[in-house]
Amino acid sequence: MLVVEDLVKVYGDVRALDGLSLEVKEGQIYGFLGPNGAGKSTTLLSTLGLVYPNSGRISLLGREVFHNGKFNKGALLEAKSRIGYMPEHATLWDFLTPYQTLEILADSFDIPRTERKERIRELLETVNLWEVKDKKAGKFSKGMRQRLLLAQALINDPELLILDEPMSGLDPKGIAEFKEIIKEQRKAGKTVFFSSHILAHVEEVCDTVGVIVRGKLRVEGNINDIRENFLRKAGYLILLETTKPVSFEGVDWEVERVSPTKYGIKAPSDIREDVNDLVWRQGAKILQLMVRVPSLEEVFLSLVKEEG
Ligand SMILES: Nc1ncnc2c1ncn2[C@@H]1O[C@H](COP(=O)(O)OP(=O)(O)OP(=O)(O)O)[C@@H](O)[C@H]1O
Ligand SMILES: [Mg+2]
Repeated sequence: MLVVEDLVKVYGDVRALDGLSLEVKEGQIYGFLGPNGAGKSTTLLSTLGLVYPNSGRISLLGREVFHNGKFNKGALLEAKSRIGYMPEHATLWDFLTPYQTLEILADSFDIPRTERKERIRELLETVNLWEVKDKKAGKFSKGMRQRLLLAQALINDPELLILDEPMSGLDPKGIAEFKEIIKEQRKAGKTVFFSSHILAHVEEVCDTVGVIVRGKLRVEGNINDIRENFLRKAGYLILLETTKPVSFEGVDWEVERVSPTKYGIKAPSDIREDVNDLVWRQGAKILQLMVRVPSLEEVFLSLVKEEG
C-alpha cells in the first residue's frame, strides 16, 4: 500500500529524514511512533508530494510515485484520489456546520447529487457527528473537531488513510472514541497509517508499529514482538521471596539481594522453573515468584533514548 525506501529529506542543516524505510501493508493499522521532531510529519507530507524529498523511493498503492529525485505527477495524482489525508494542524470552516462542510467537499470530489445525501449521512454517523450535523463547527470540542476532520479525509471513500497525530490533544474518552472509529475503518477494509508521539495512542488499535527516531526507523513490527525482543535484550527481571535465605552459587544469573529472603534476578529468559528447582533443592519454600514485564512505555522510552 505504501512503501518508503531510504528516504532522505534535508531542510537547511537539519537532516529530517536520514534514510527512512518503512512499509504499510494492505489492511494494516500502522502506528508511526516517534518523539517530537523525529520526522513523522515530514514522512507523511513526502508520501503525499507536499514535501519534496532529496532522495529515496516512495510507492503508493502499488505505483512508484517518487524515484530518482523526482515525483511522477500522474501516478501521484492517481494515487492521491484513493487516499484520505488528515493534516497535523488542520483548520475547519468554523462558520459552517458539519453537513455544509461535507457538502462542499462532496462537490469538489464530484460525488453525484443522488448519492450525496446518503454518503454524508453515512460519514457523519461513522464519526458520531450526525446529531450535531447542523451546529456550527466553531463551537465544537477538540474531539468533535478531530472527528469532523476525519470525516473530511473519508469523503472520497479512500483505500488508504494517512492521519498526522489525529489523537493529539484529545482526552482519554476522546482517544477511546477515535480508536473505535479507526477500528471500524479496518473492518470496512481500509488501511490506516497514522502518526503519534504518544504510545497510548497506538496501543490496542495498531497491529503494526514503526518507531522513528531522528529520521530513521528504529524498529518495525507487531507491538508484542517488539516488547518480546526488547525483553530478550534487556533481560527478564524476576522477583523472588523465600522462607529462608538461599544460595545462588553456580548459576550465571545476575542476582541482587533486596533483603535476606528477597531477591531480584536478571536473566536472559523467563527462568522461573529453574529458580523454583534451586529453592526447592535447598529445602526452602517460595513465598513469591514473579516476572516483571516492562510496560510498553518503558520499551518505547528506551528505544527513543538508545538513539539519542
Ligand atoms: N519546513 C521546515 N523547515 C525547516 N526545518 C523543518 C521544516 N519542517 C520540519 N523541520 C525540521 O525537521 C525535523 C523533523 O520535523 P517533523 O515536523 O517532520 O517532525 P515530527 O516528528 O512530525 O514532530 P512533531 O511530533 O513535533 O510533530 C525537525 O527538526 C523540524 O524542526
Ligand atoms: Mg509532526
